[in-house]
Amino acid sequence: MEKYLVKGGVPLRGEVSVSGAKNAALAVLPAALMSGDVCTINNVPKVEDIHVLLQAIQHLGVKITYENDGHTVIMDCRKIEKVTVDYEHISKIRASYYLLGALLGAKNYSKVALPGGCNIGARPIDQHIKGFKALGAEIEIEHGMIEVKTDKLVGDTIYLDSPSVGATINIMMAACMAEGTTYIENPAKEPHIVDVANFLNSMGAKVKGAGTHIIKIQGVSKMHGSEYTIIPDMIEAGTYMVAAAITKGNVLVRNLIPKHMDAITAKLIEMGARVDVYGDSIRVSYEKDYSSIRVKTLPYPGFPTDMQPQFVALMALVNGVSVMTESIFESRFSYTSELGRMGADIKVEGNTAIINGVSNFTGAQVRATDLRAGAALVLAGLAGKGDTLISNIYNIDRGYECLEDKISALGGWIKRIDTEKKPELKVVS
Ligand code: UD1
Repeated sequence: MEKYLVKGGVPLRGEVSVSGAKNAALAVLPAALMSGDVCTINNVPKVEDIHVLLQAIQHLGVKITYENDGHTVIMDCRKIEKVTVDYEHISKIRASYYLLGALLGAKNYSKVALPGGCNIGARPIDQHIKGFKALGAEIEIEHGMIEVKTDKLVGDTIYLDSPSVGATINIMMAACMAEGTTYIENPAKEPHIVDVANFLNSMGAKVKGAGTHIIKIQGVSKMHGSEYTIIPDMIEAGTYMVAAAITKGNVLVRNLIPKHMDAITAKLIEMGARVDVYGDSIRVSYEKDYSSIRVKTLPYPGFPTDMQPQFVALMALVNGVSVMTESIFESRFSYTSELGRMGADIKVEGNTAIINGVSNFTGAQVRATDLRAGAALVLAGLAGKGDTLISNIYNIDRGYECLEDKISALGGWIKRIDTEKKPELKVVS
C-alpha cells in the first residue's frame, strides 16, 4: 500500500515539462484501432490509466511495441482478433467506453464492460447511447457489459443534451466509417476533441468543425495507419501552475499550449499571482498577497472541472471568502473534508463550496478520494506546515506521470513510501 509523504513549506522553483494529455491519449489509442493498419503515437503519457487501456487493446490482438522510453506507442492493428473487453481488463478506467465507439466504427460490433473511473458523480452514458442508436446501432446492457452492434452505420444529426466530452468523441469515431454524413450539434469543444479529430483525419477520416459548435463527419469506407503526436496535458500543466502559486514559488511550466490554459491563467491573475505567458510555456510566480475569488466550472473554454480541487486548495489559503461552483459533476467536493483535516475551512452547500481562507494548512493523514482530489492534497501538503501522509495514491498514479520526480526537481519534498513493507533485517556477524 503505497502512500505519499509530503513535507511542506518550500516554495517550488525551477522548470517542469508537461507530459502528453492523458484524456487525449485515452481516445487516440482506441481510435487507432479504426486504421486496420499500423499507427505510431508519440507523446503518450506513462500513467496508470494508459497502462490499463493498452493492456486491454493488446488483449484484442493488437501488437504493441514501445519506443522513446515508452512515450511512443506503435500499434499494429492489422489483426484485431477480439471485439469484447471484459471487466477484469478495463473496470478501472472511465475511457473504456472509447473502445465501444472505435470498434463499432471499425467492426460494427463491440462489447465492453461498463466504465469505472473517478467517483465524482453519476456519470451516465445516455448521450453516447443516443448517438450510437441514431447511427443505426442496437444497444444491450447486461451483466455489467454494454454491447453495441449493427449491420451498417448510417450518418445522422445528433444533438447532445449536454456537451459531453466522452459522447462527442465516441460518436465522432463511430461516424467516421458510417455511410453518409453525421452532424454532432452541441458537442464538447475541449482541446482533446480537436486532437482526436486531427488524428482521425490523419488516418483518412473527414471530420470538420471539431472545437466549434457543430462537428461534421463525412463517412469514408476505409482508414489507414498514421503517425501522430498527442497534445500536452492542460490539466497537468494547470496543476503545476497552481503548485507554483500555492507554495508562493516561481515555476516555468514548459511544453504547453498557452491558449488551452486561458481560464486557469485568468483566474490566477485575478487572484494576484504573476503569470507570464510565452510561446509554449507559462511562468507563475508570487508577487503579492492573493485575493479571494469566485470560480465556476464550465465546459471548455470555461474553467475545467478537472482543475476544481487543485484551485480549491489554493483558494483555501487566501484571505477572505472564496466561492467555487461545480456545474459539471454533482459529487466532486468529497475531498474538501480531507482538506479540512489539514485545517481548511470549507462549507459545501449543494454544488457550491464556500471557502473561508485560513493562514496555513498543517500536515495530516489524508486520503486521495479521486485523481484530481489527490493532486489537490499533494499541493496542500507542499504548501502546509509539517508532514502530510496521503493514502490511495493509485488514484494519483492514474493521471500524473512521475509526479514525485517533477516536484522534487522543483525543490519540493515528496516521497513515495510503502507503509506495509517490513523493515529489512540486517544480519550482523
Ligand atoms: C471527461 C474527462 C474528465 C473530465 C470531463 C469533463 C476523459 C477520460 N475524462 O469525462 O476528466 O472531468 O470530461 O471535462 O476524457 N453526461 C450525461 N450523459 C452522458 C455523458 C455525460 O449526462 O452520456 C454528463 C455527465 O454526467 C457530466 C457532463 O455530462 O455531468 C460532462 O460529462 P463528460 O464530458 O461526458 O465527461 P467524461 O467524458 O466522462
